[in-house]
Amino acid sequence: MEIKIINDSLVNASCDVLVVNLFEGVKTPIGATGEVDKALGNLISSYVIEKENFKGKLNEMYVLPTHGKIPADKVLLVGLGKAEEFNLNKISEVSAKIIKKVKALKAKKVCTILHCCPDVAGFEAAPCAQMIAEGTIIGNYEFKKYKSKKEDDDNNKNEVESLEIVEFDDAKIEDIQKGTEKGQIIAENLNFARDLVNEPACVATPAKLAEVASSIEGIECKIFDREEIEKMEMGAFLAVARGSIHPPKFIHMIYRPSGEIKRKIAVVGKGITFDSGGLDIKSSGSMRNMKDDMSGAANTLAIMKAIVLLKPDVEVHGIIAACENMPDGEAYRPGDILIAKNKKTIEIDNTDAEGRVTLADALCYATEQKVDEIIDMATLTGACLVALGQIASGIMGNNQELIDKLIACADKGGEKFWQLPLYDDYKDDIKSDIADMKNAGSRYAGASTAGMFLKEFVGDTKWVHLDIAGPAFMDKDYKEFSKGPTAPAVRALLNYILSI
Ligand code: BES
Ligand code: MN
Ligand code: ZN
Repeated sequence: MEIKIINDSLVNASCDVLVVNLFEGVKTPIGATGEVDKALGNLISSYVIEKENFKGKLNEMYVLPTHGKIPADKVLLVGLGKAEEFNLNKISEVSAKIIKKVKALKAKKVCTILHCCPDVAGFEAAPCAQMIAEGTIIGNYEFKKYKSKKEDDDNNKNEVESLEIVEFDDAKIEDIQKGTEKGQIIAENLNFARDLVNEPACVATPAKLAEVASSIEGIECKIFDREEIEKMEMGAFLAVARGSIHPPKFIHMIYRPSGEIKRKIAVVGKGITFDSGGLDIKSSGSMRNMKDDMSGAANTLAIMKAIVLLKPDVEVHGIIAACENMPDGEAYRPGDILIAKNKKTIEIDNTDAEGRVTLADALCYATEQKVDEIIDMATLTGACLVALGQIASGIMGNNQELIDKLIACADKGGEKFWQLPLYDDYKDDIKSDIADMKNAGSRYAGASTAGMFLKEFVGDTKWVHLDIAGPAFMDKDYKEFSKGPTAPAVRALLNYILSI
């Protein structure tokens, strides 16, 4: 689908479906919706609102024929909810609902109003356009690669070919163009991460992740195989990898800006391509979706791909320790003691707490890159899912300023990060009798004890940990997302990097 910007009046737009909006409770539409209403002989105000009881509730929709009164074939009236509750996130959500609706209407060409509503809500054009692009592309996502017979051939033939954002004011066109481009890059790469997570673990192996990383143009990429990982003395990561026939890969990608470098940051993603639990094997129900345990890695790859196109003045290191957690004869055992890259010793309490063990070495490596900040993303704990549900990621770290900035980027960019504490007292829970620490504690505050474990490997570097276990793989549709992978934190991190 192509997204274009048109400098014209909505009533001139020639398309299959023209999208206009209405706030809740408005009886007489103003602005662009008002113009369309007039052109249609007050069909919106005197019929749809008056007789059909259209309220303008968020995501409420009504389709009207135009009977040749304007070039558009149909008008789709969309409710934006209460004006005082309206925000940019709702533009994204409503845009996703719109693309699904126009697909069902079998539209090929769609024109839309820019939902920033200067008269009422007063948002700037660029972020509105960004959210239209993001919501539309995220809402249009489907993973049909492995369906040999198309379920609904009719619908499949009916991809929307173009979405045109129509704006009358020429002063806004450039901003709309810029916002749209940014949103397109972010959402297309977010969907790329969803594709990777949707791939089964027999396809998305550590070698496959390495291959994807190597194929990204415009970055440097180093892939370390088992022998080189041994040389780097990553005893923790290697132990987790031992139980699988798929050899581990350590991936280091670097984006270097062409001009001035404002900051150096490392993005680290958990890359367990399948988490069986290892010898502490999971129950079948808990194992079912564990191909998603490389969501952090998929996000990291997506972020690197997007960064090349967005060109921030920031040096970005993408780091992934990719392996599979399996219970083979060579597998690591409960009671084993491992030596991480920074020489700290780890007693294995539970082989299913494998993500933090691989991340220990990845975080040591990130610290050695002399970056200013490290941000890791990991489907780390079921405890985080229990605490926050599937709608939010847990955020914690050693630098409150960075945590606050990331929470603000999430809030503005269609995501939810909720801070969990890293009290020193939690360290008692991962004390080992015979090693520096153990890899798991009691069931209590599981997301925080995992965070405390990671903290042991970042030294003094500013660091934030995102536990994305909840939203990484949704059980049901939610806002702009269909069920399955949602690539949490990609939007927030890209917006954060662009804000530097
Ligand atoms: N990958 C899981 C965490 C997870 C659970 C992600 C559910 C997504 C949905 C992780 O490796 C794990 O197994 N964690 C254990 C830790 C425990 C053994 C201390 C958990 O949360 O049960
Ligand atoms: Mn596990
Ligand atoms: Zn895991």
